[in-house]
Amino acid sequence: MKGLFITFEGPDGAGKTTQVYLVDRYLKEKGYSTLITREPGGTKIGEEIRNLLLSCAHSEMDALTEMYLYAAARAQHVKQLIKPALREGKIVLCDRFVDSSIAYQGFGRGLGMDVVESVNRYALQEVEPDLTLFFNIDIEEALNRGRARNGSLDRLEREKLEFHRRVYQGFCLLRDKYPCRIKEIDASKDIDDVFKQIMELIEYLLCCKK
Ligand code: TYD
Repeated sequence: MKGLFITFEGPDGAGKTTQVYLVDRYLKEKGYSTLITREPGGTKIGEEIRNLLLSCAHSEMDALTEMYLYAAARAQHVKQLIKPALREGKIVLCDRFVDSSIAYQGFGRGLGMDVVESVNRYALQEVEPDLTLFFNIDIEEALNRGRARNGSLDRLEREKLEFHRRVYQGFCLLRDKYPCRIKEIDASKDIDDVFKQIMELIEYLLCCKK
């Protein structure tokens, strides 16, 4: 694949989305061809699955159903959007990807890392991020930030603090398991500082790719 695949991960409210847009603008100004996308979502089918997943009307959703729906949206996303963009040499910036499934469904829901990894193996179609930015921030601070930003909470955001703590631990375990791919960002800092931390890592990656 000619392009670069960069994913943004971390707890709800960590400030990932703001940074995805800042990075995109910066790279475009430098002349790179980029694609911003998100999970769940990115495609028409994926956005419909996203509505199902995040709607508070579906509080009865089983953990396994949830895991398969995220994986189904991902399979479509990889096939329809991510792979073609990487083949064209684009830098793909993705707001959440498979690590979110491992953290939220594997750890948060307690399905376990192995189950979630093995189900997602098919969805990934051999695509792996070149770099994953883990936005590390105190979980309560992140949740409060998110709540202050958007008044209404989605189905996942409504989960108990204990759930979000397990998700956070999941992300930390992933960071320790894949230290070459997953790099930690101190997301408690202000927007400019966080952006600087991110661009250092991306610039390094771009240099290696040359
Ligand atoms: P979103 O509004 O995109 O959250 P954020 O702005 O914090 O990134 O909602 C996506 C939610 O779905 C978020 O709570 C994380 C969750 N999620 C999973 O549980 N598993 C997954 O595989 C993905 C991609 C997201």
